[in-house]
Amino acid sequence: MKKIGLAVALLAACSSLAWVAQADTGGMKSLRGAKALDEGTRAPAMYKFNKDEEPIKRNYVQQPPVIPHTIRGYRVDLNSNKCLSCHSWDNYKESGATKVSLTHFNTRGGHALADISPRRYFCLQCHVPQAVTAPLIENEYQSSTEIGR
Ligand code: HEC
Ligand code: HEC
Repeated sequence: MKKIGLAVALLAACSSLAWVAQADTGGMKSLRGAKALDEGTRAPAMYKFNKDEEPIKRNYVQQPPVIPHTIRGYRVDLNSNKCLSCHSWDNYKESGATKVSLTHFNTRGGHALADISPRRYFCLQCHVPQAVTAPLIENEYQSSTEIGR
């Protein structure tokens, strides 16, 4: 009984070793490439984000609008928020940017604050800049307005 157990354990160990050596992905293509987990890979090339464009159409009502401009060098940290220097209610008129919506003043508990709520402070959690890239996989995405038609 013990011997069988040992044989099974050995077999399992061998097959997992073989997996690590060849990184057999079973035909699946990883974005990381066919590399074993403990092997390093080269970082992909950096995307060039779109320069300044008109606001981009939204796909559904609650969608955080995507960012139609480059954000290189825009800092958001404890001491400053570059996004708000254009998008805040104080500054939007001068900069010509869309002002942050009122929803961004609400706390999680539904209290309206006089300024941006801490949970909306890190804009890039939800809003992302855009780049022209080839789609990673084919898809037939339709916006909710197209489906409703
Ligand atoms: C120098 C001013 C400036 C800064 C800084 C800036 N923006 Fe903008 N942003 C604009 C302007 C202007 C527009 C509107 C573009 C237009 O109408 O042509 C815009 C548009 C947007 C939109 C699209 C709004 C819509 O209605 O579709 C989002 C989202 C956005 N910005 C997010 C950000 C975030 C997040 C940051 C910080 C990382 C940021 N912006 C920093 C000026 C700025
Ligand atoms: C937790 C997610 C989240 C964070 C963080 C967040 N937003 Fe938004 N934002 C949204 C969503 C969702 C919408 C669309 C619905 C709405 O207006 O609330 C939106 C809408 C907007 C709009 C368009 C307003 C309009 O009237 O059409 C602007 C501009 C914007 N956000 C800027 C910002 C900036 C600047 C920050 C950082 C200070 C920020 N957002 C942080 C989710 C977020």
